[in-house]
Amino acid sequence: MATTFMKRCLRAAVPAVLVCLGAAGCDPASPSADGAGGGGPSVHFTAAGDIGLGTAAGNVLDKIAELKPDLNLAVGDLSYQAGSEGAFCGMVTAKLGEEFPYELIAGNHESDGSDGDISKFARCLPNKLPGLQGEYGKQWYVDVPQDRPLVRFILISPGLTFQDGVQLDYSKGSERLAWTEAAVDGAREAKIPWTVVGMHKLCFSMGRYDCDVGEALTNMLISKNVDLVVTGHQHAYQRTHQLRVGDRCSYIWAGTFNRNCVADTGNTHAQGNGTVFVTAGTGGYGLHGVNGNDTEAGYFKTWAGANNGGAFGVLDVTLNRQRMDAKYVPAQGSGFTDSFVIQR
Ligand SMILES: [Fe+2]
Repeated sequence: MATTFMKRCLRAAVPAVLVCLGAAGCDPASPSADGAGGGGPSVHFTAAGDIGLGTAAGNVLDKIAELKPDLNLAVGDLSYQAGSEGAFCGMVTAKLGEEFPYELIAGNHESDGSDGDISKFARCLPNKLPGLQGEYGKQWYVDVPQDRPLVRFILISPGLTFQDGVQLDYSKGSERLAWTEAAVDGAREAKIPWTVVGMHKLCFSMGRYDCDVGEALTNMLISKNVDLVVTGHQHAYQRTHQLRVGDRCSYIWAGTFNRNCVADTGNTHAQGNGTVFVTAGTGGYGLHGVNGNDTEAGYFKTWAGANNGGAFGVLDVTLNRQRMDAKYVPAQGSGFTDSFVIQR
């Protein structure tokens, strides 16, 4: 976030990666140069999940360093290997620096400790964003910048089982659904321009997965016009149209397509008409195939996996008070790209 009201500048080990958090004493480059038109303060973030410890993971981290975001959302499935928390954190900090906000939410591989333990990852890659609320790595939100925020990031863990063997409950009437809803409502009440939700598992998928996060949560996010939901789990890139609920689509059910639930099929959306879901399970660990004939295909604008020209890479987003510019930036594999805009 390149803003005029920043207090603290953190220069990471990566050359030219400048992160400013807070106010005064930091004079970053012109925010409009980051890619979001309209000028003014902006926030720039990247996101990807399903990372691993291999060459592709390193290449994706190199791409993040090159893009110079203010923060990255790692949306779960980190190392895929028991006992490797230190190696994973070392890989990240070697590429991005000790102070870079590489922000974590658990995936199914580390939530229960089977392939590394989210609590250990959270210790060696701790939160770097001031004012974070909730439990880092599991269920949290934060406003960025802390002073006069432009965006609330809400990171949650629906569909995941943690060390106690109990899957977190985000079903209708649950405390965690209410917590998430209150976080969205709180952003609105605080007049924060954008809301972005991140989680590892997904609902809609061009392939193998069911609506593991639950339809109650999914419909709540859409009904409240959360601007963008970023997930991992499916190791591919996939972007839905802006999806809506309301007249003629009172509820979206996974597994079938209802065209009345599509607000807009273009690449430029108006804020407040629904939600765009992006899966970026492309952080470095073995791309999955995608199924172009999936029963939910009508909800999707684009998709790219192992069998149709997919690439490892990151979602790259810049937002300001007027608009959100999002694109997919490849780091290894094909040159697949994507871009879309949400305007206020
Ligand atoms: Fe994964």
